Formats: sequence, structure tokens, C-alpha cells
Amino acid sequence: MSHSGSGTDSVTVRAAAKVNLHLGVGALRADGFHPLATVYQAIGMYDDVTVTDAPDWGLVVTAHERIDLSEVPLDHSNIVLRAGRLLSAHHRLDRAAAIGVDKGIPVAGGLAGGSADGAAALLALDRLWELQTTDDDLLALAAELGSDVPFALVGGTATGHGRGELVERVPDAGSWWWVVVESDIGLPTPAVYRELDRTGHPPDHPVVPRPLLDALAVGDPELLAESLTNDLTAPALRLRPDLAKVLADGTESGALAGLVSGSGPTCLFLCRDAGHASAVRMMMTDLGHTRVSSAAGPVAGAHVVEYS
Ligand code: C5P
Repeated sequence: MSHSGSGTDSVTVRAAAKVNLHLGVGALRADGFHPLATVYQAIGMYDDVTVTDAPDWGLVVTAHERIDLSEVPLDHSNIVLRAGRLLSAHHRLDRAAAIGVDKGIPVAGGLAGGSADGAAALLALDRLWELQTTDDDLLALAAELGSDVPFALVGGTATGHGRGELVERVPDAGSWWWVVVESDIGLPTPAVYRELDRTGHPPDHPVVPRPLLDALAVGDPELLAESLTNDLTAPALRLRPDLAKVLADGTESGALAGLVSGSGPTCLFLCRDAGHASAVRMMMTDLGHTRVSSAAGPVAGAHVVEYS
């Protein structure tokens, strides 16, 4: 039986992890956020969010076996429930849904897994309830949920300004291969920004470097490797000195470049192509790293994969 009146009982939306090819962080703003000049890329590692009409809000979170769910809140503070309430308030509705989240993106890994869930929940509920929310409104609601959530809707490769929520697609001719080394323990984003404030001297107006955009436009991995930068690397390494060894092992394994993903602790290694990525992946495994995978980018933003 259809609860939505449209023949659709539930909708599943898939949303991708993001990496920051450049993460320039400015001095702390009065609102507690930092101005960013970043380049996001969506990579092929996904969470799926399924929404079903229900009389009350409900949440069930499942995950691939390698993922630790102990830090995921299951109460009203979870980003998918915040997304649901925000969307229904925006349309002045009094509706609820049962939401299932199936995670393939590590929690607190610097890959914006929570943001992917928030974006997916917004889109899934919009489709389930046939609200036809405009793209601009969806992006504004996404920005209320978190700085990285608008990018999770947009996907591909894009610059991010403001606190990261002002997103603009950029030309990207490449198909980029990343070896992804996850950590056993997450690293909360606010702690890494606090460490930066304590120890760093961020500029007032961070910028996206032109050579990085040029490398993307021509699709040259050797050039891109020279332009990868992350201002959160130093504070993340101070909080997690063990990551220095992961980065060094990636270089030893022949990757073109290594970097901390966002606020960490996931580390990323750029490779020339799929074959090179599988060679680096094997080397990293031989060096004793257990949570090693590879993913290509750019991939699409949040999108419906199933109506039932
Ligand atoms: O926007 P989001 O909820 O993802 O941010 C989580 C935390 O990360 C913020 O509370 C803040 O401590 C930090 N942050 C920041 N500057 C940004 C984005 C996030 O300081 N541009």
C-alpha cells in the first residue's frame, strides 16, 4: 500500500564521500567557523539513505563491517533527522518518516560521511513527499545542516568558499584514482580546527591556487600531485602523530602524492590510474595497513537509486 499517495512507499538516495584537493583555512570568524577556500571532489565511496513514510520519526543505522558505528548519534541530533525536520518545517508540513542509513563511508573520517547522509535525507524526503523543493532551497537547507552538505548534493569537482557551503562546479577532465587508508579511530572535526587556532597563523582570505584548477582542467595527475594542499594536515598530525607513518608509507608505496583527507584521520594517495592504484594498495597492505581501499573521482552528487 502506498502511504504517499503516489505509488511510492520508500525512496533510496545514494551520496558519495568527499575529499579536499585543496583545503585553505582562514582565521576564525566571529560565528565560530573558519573561512575556507577549498576544492572538493566526490569519490566512489557511498552511504545509502532510505526513507519510508511513518507516523513518527525513526532511525536505523547499519554499516559495512569495517565501519565503527559507536560514535553515530541515534537520537534527534542525528543529521538525517535534523534534515527531515528542517525540510518539513520549510514546507510547513507535519509529516514524519522512518529513515535507514547504510554506511560505506567511515564515521568521523574526514570524508564528510555525515554530510552525505544529510544531503541524501533531504533529497530522499523531497522525492518521497513530492515536494519539488527548488535546487536553491535544497542548497540553502543543506547549508543549514552543515558546511559540507551542499557539496554532497552537487558532487563532481567544485570549489567551496564561505565556510565551505558556497559551492561552484569547476572543469575537471580527469578520472582520478585514490588509495584510501582509513583509521581505526575517528578524529572529530572541531578538535582539529581548535588545534589549528591554538598553533597556526591562518590568513584572513584563503584562496584556491590557480595551478590546481589548471591541473584539473587538463586532467594531468602528475600536475595535480604537485598542487594538493591541506591546512589541516599539521593540526591533524599533532593530534594523531601516527598518521605521519601512514603518509610516509604511501610515498614509499609509489603514490604520486599523499594527504590527510579534510580534518582526517583518513589518508589519501593519488595514483596515475586504476592499475597504479591497485599496486599501491597492495604495497600498503604488505606494509601492514589493514583498512586500505581505492576509489575514483569525480562521481555524481546525491541521487535516487531506488523507488519502491
Ligand atoms: O559545518 P559543520 O557542522 O560540518 O562543522 C563542524 C565543526 O567544524 C564546526 O562546529 C566548527 O567547529 C568546524 N568548522 C569550522 N570552519 C568551517 C567548517 C567547520 O571551524 N568552515
